[in-house]
Amino acid sequence: MERTFLAIKPDGVQRGLVGEIIQRLEQKGFTLVGLKLLQVSKELASTHYGEHQAKPFFPGLVEFITSGPVVAMVWEGKGVIATARKMIGATNPLNSEPGTIRGDFGIDVGRNVIHGSDAPETAVKEISLWFGPEELVAWSSSLTPWIY
Ligand code: TYD
Ligand code: MG
Repeated sequence: MERTFLAIKPDGVQRGLVGEIIQRLEQKGFTLVGLKLLQVSKELASTHYGEHQAKPFFPGLVEFITSGPVVAMVWEGKGVIATARKMIGATNPLNSEPGTIRGDFGIDVGRNVIHGSDAPETAVKEISLWFGPEELVAWSSSLTPWIY
């Protein structure tokens, strides 16, 4: 079953959006298989956003991600990588469609509430960067068949 890595950024946690975001993903039919609240280190933030290292916004991005607690999550389900990205919305919340998380809850690209893996290879990499295998559960087999 497909898995993705999602993280509610410090602004989302501080604004009390954790419950709302988890609820949207649960109601869609995805399954939460990993969850923790953590203070992110500079090292973890830099590795996670390594592809952006040369960009002008990189230092500010790392500073922001390490500025307060983050809710790191692994979600599982059919098509979860692409669909979670769709539910998150465009990177700049001013361009995110209403109905998406960023579209409903933000206006600033540097405070866009949530991260989501953008492809299958990224998802695998990010899940193993943020979670040990012992922190992930497999509970799909105990679900009734009409829950995906
Ligand atoms: P990116 O991977 O392009 O976006 P996404 O989170 O949608 O995959 O960029 C990573 C984060 O960097 C983005 O969520 C917010 C921040 N960022 C800026 O602060 N300024 C920018 O101009 C861009 C493109 C991103
Ligand atoms: Mg990205």
